[in-house]
Amino acid sequence: MKIAVIGTGYVGLVVGTCLAETGNRVTCVDVDEHKIAALKEGRVPIYEPGLEELVQRNSAEGRLHFTTNVDEAVRSAVVCFIAVGTPPDEDGSADLKYVLAVAKAIAENLHGYKVVVTKSTVPVGTNQRVRDHIRKHAGPDAEFDVVSNPEFLKEGAAIDDFMKPDRVVIGTTSARARDIMLELYSPYVRTGKPILVMDPASAEMTKYAANAMLATRISFMNEMARICELVGADINHVRSGIGTDSRIGFPFLFAGAGYGGSCFPKDVRALVRTAHDYGYEPLVVNAVEQVNDAQKRLLGDKIVSHFGEDLSGRRFALWGLAFKPKTDDMREAPALVLIEQLTSRGATVCAFDPEAMDEAKRRLGDRIDYAPAALAALDGADALVLVTEWNEFRHVDPAEIQARLQGAVVFDGRNIFDAHRMREAGFTYYGIGVR
Ligand SMILES: NC(=O)c1ccc[n+]([C@@H]2O[C@H](COP(=O)([O-])OP(=O)(O)OC[C@H]3O[C@@H](n4cnc5c(N)ncnc54)[C@H](O)[C@@H]3O)[C@@H](O)[C@H]2O)c1
Repeated sequence: MKIAVIGTGYVGLVVGTCLAETGNRVTCVDVDEHKIAALKEGRVPIYEPGLEELVQRNSAEGRLHFTTNVDEAVRSAVVCFIAVGTPPDEDGSADLKYVLAVAKAIAENLHGYKVVVTKSTVPVGTNQRVRDHIRKHAGPDAEFDVVSNPEFLKEGAAIDDFMKPDRVVIGTTSARARDIMLELYSPYVRTGKPILVMDPASAEMTKYAANAMLATRISFMNEMARICELVGADINHVRSGIGTDSRIGFPFLFAGAGYGGSCFPKDVRALVRTAHDYGYEPLVVNAVEQVNDAQKRLLGDKIVSHFGEDLSGRRFALWGLAFKPKTDDMREAPALVLIEQLTSRGATVCAFDPEAMDEAKRRLGDRIDYAPAALAALDGADALVLVTEWNEFRHVDPAEIQARLQGAVVFDGRNIFDAHRMREAGFTYYGIGVR
C-alpha cells in the first residue's frame, strides 16, 4: 500500500518505518528541513532502540522515503496518517492547529479516494472536525474517510510496541476505510491480538482513558509511598503485596519522582479540559495531576529538609535527565523541576544521562555542568540525586560512589538502590516511601 505519514517525530517516524518494514511504500513528511535532511542520510534525530537500523534498511530497500513536500506525498498515497504534535494550548486543551493544517494540505491534494488516519492524540470530536475541514477545502465531491487510530507505543520500546501491539484501535463508521485499515494492520496481529473497530469518538476517548489510567496508577502509588513514609511502612513491600493480586497486577506500580514525557502530563490535562468543556469536574483525573506536580518537587523538598533552604555553595550530582530510561526525551521531565529547585536556591548541579546530554544542553545551556560519565558527576558533590532509572546506574558499587562523592548522602528518586545496603555502606539514604 502507498502511505504518507505527515509529521515525522517520535510517533510518525516509528509508524512510518514499521509500516515500511511490512512491505508498504511509505513517505514520511515533515516541515523540519534539518530533520528530513538527516533522515535522508540515514541519521535518526531521536534516540529510540533499534530505530536507526530499521530506517536505514527500509530506505536502502526503497520502501521508505523522506520529504518536506506534503503535496507530492499525499497525492501518491492511499492512506495518509496525521502524526503531528498536539501540544497543550494555554488552557490545557490540545492545540489542533498542526492537525488542521495537515488536514488542509491533504484536502488540497485529494485525487481519488483516500483514508485519512488521525494518529495524533486528539480530543473527542476531532475526527469530525478533521472531516469537516477536509470537506470545506476539498469540496463536496471529494472522496475520503477519516479514521481515528490512536497510538499506544512507549518511547524506549516503540518498535516492539508497534510491531507487536497489545491491540489496535480503529475508529470509523465506514466499511471501506475499515477494510483498508484491517489489511494494513493484519501483519502486526498475527499472534491473535485484537483489532478493535469502534466509532471514532470511542477510539479518541480510549487513548485518553488509557493514559489517564496509567497516570492514575503512578500517582496512586506515589500517594501510597507518601503515606508509607508517614506510618513507617515500605512501598516496595506494599507493591509486592498488592501487585500479586490478579485484579491489580504489577505494571506501573513503582513509586518515584513523578511522571513526565510528552504524553501523560498533556493528555491528563487535555482530558480535564474536555470534561470542563462539557460542564463536568473530573475529580480523580484532577487529583492525578495534583499528586504528580507535588511528586516532581518531592526530591527537591527532601534535599531542602536535609541541607536547609539556602543551598548556595552546595553541589549536587544528578543521574538521569530524560523523563524515563531508553529515551533522550526531556519533555516535562522531573529532572527539570528538580534543577530549577536546586539552582534557584544557589546550588550547582553536575548531571549525567546516557542519552539525553545533547537535549539537556539544548534546553539548559550552562545553567548546569555536564559530566562525561556517571561517576565523574560525583566528584566534589555533596549528594547524589538519582532521577531516571537507567540500568547502568543500578549496579554501581556503593564504595565507588563513596570514593568520589564529597558528602555521603543519596537521594534515590526511583528506589533503585537497596536502602539497607546503602546505609550499611555509610550513606544517609533517602528513597521514595522506603524504610
Ligand atoms: N511520543 C509518544 O510516545 C507518543 C505516543 C502515542 C501518541 N503520541 C501522540 O502522537 C502525536 C505526535 O507526537 P510526537 O511525540 O511524535 O511529536 P513530535 O513533536 O516528536 O513530532 C511531531 C512532528 O510533526 C512535525 N510537524 C508539525 N507540523 C507539521 C506539518 N504541518 N507538516 C508536517 N510535519 C509537521 C514537527 O516538525 C515534528 O517533527 C501527539 O499527538 C502525541 O500526543 C505520542
